[in-house]
Amino acid sequence: MELIDQYLRKVNYLRVSVTDRCDLRCVYCMKEKMQFLPRSEVLTLEEIERLCDNFIELGVEKIRLTGGEPLVRNDIIKLIERLNYKKNNTNLNEITLTTNGTLLKQYAKQLKLNGVNRINVSLDTINPKKYNKITRFGNIEKVFDGINECLDSDIKVKINTVVIKDFNENEIEELLSWTSNKKIDLTFIEVMPMEETDISREYQFVSLSETYDNLNKKYKFIKSDHNTGGPARYFTSFKLSNKIGFISPLTNNFCATCNRVRISSTGKLFMCLGQNDYVDFREIMRKDYSDDFIKEKIRFALNIKPKNHDFMIGTKINKYMKRHMNVTGG
Ligand code: 5AD
Ligand code: SF4
Repeated sequence: MELIDQYLRKVNYLRVSVTDRCDLRCVYCMKEKMQFLPRSEVLTLEEIERLCDNFIELGVEKIRLTGGEPLVRNDIIKLIERLNYKKNNTNLNEITLTTNGTLLKQYAKQLKLNGVNRINVSLDTINPKKYNKITRFGNIEKVFDGINECLDSDIKVKINTVVIKDFNENEIEELLSWTSNKKIDLTFIEVMPMEETDISREYQFVSLSETYDNLNKKYKFIKSDHNTGGPARYFTSFKLSNKIGFISPLTNNFCATCNRVRISSTGKLFMCLGQNDYVDFREIMRKDYSDDFIKEKIRFALNIKPKNHDFMIGTKINKYMKRHMNVTGG
């Protein structure tokens, strides 16, 4: 079974936000004072599993759990355990996570035991003071401990770094050598115009195509055909022992090969991170419709999956989404 959208793109990758909550408040992601959802609005573990089952039966092969911060949800290991069972008897072949890393020291071993072999850790700086500032109160030692615990547990780690103007632009080379020494891959991400936080997007945005050009002078990047199923373009360099990825939705549109859709923690299916349309599955599930009906709705949603995102950041035009990143988790 395959899920094909209206533009004939094969969608085999589902990203599931399991909570809108987070133990940090990164300044480009959230406002300082966020109103989080009451528990009753968030999908139960059973509802998440049921949605995943329907997507898997329709052809989804890879599931990524996100948040907010997925590890702050207390039944998260139970969910991963249940999804992991399905790897043996369905077409699901990978379960992975995007996490801020603060709770990894505590969770790495259980994640490995339940079939998580690879995770993405979001980390924008390796400077403790700057980390504290960008996350509004985080302690970077927890993240370092968590990353080390993963590596000790044989979980492959990739670092995701959002490049932010006047914040970590001058730290890029330090990040390159830090990850290269640890032999972990590093992906840079452009700031996307999700719902405004407390600082305007145009003061945060850095063009990654310019970052790439600057770095390329020194590192002489070699295009790699490495592909993790995501939108990053990867490069190697004789000066580095890891792979470097660039996710640049604004300066290098990759929508033509989009293979994913996203479920929010409240059960809304967003067909595109950069569009506001969604189909609400929570109401469908809570009104006791059948799995056949759910599948029909999933196919319907795929038939209206937009061709591309509408992101734009500029001084005159600043098109942004009506939701914060913690609704869908990037
Ligand atoms: N633009 C780009 N990335 C963002 N993230 C959060 N908000 C934004 C934004 N506006 C990133 C986090 C994390 C992932 C879940 O999304 O840093 O890596
Ligand atoms: Fe939390 Fe990630 Fe948003 Fe930071 S970017 S506040 S870690 S969800």
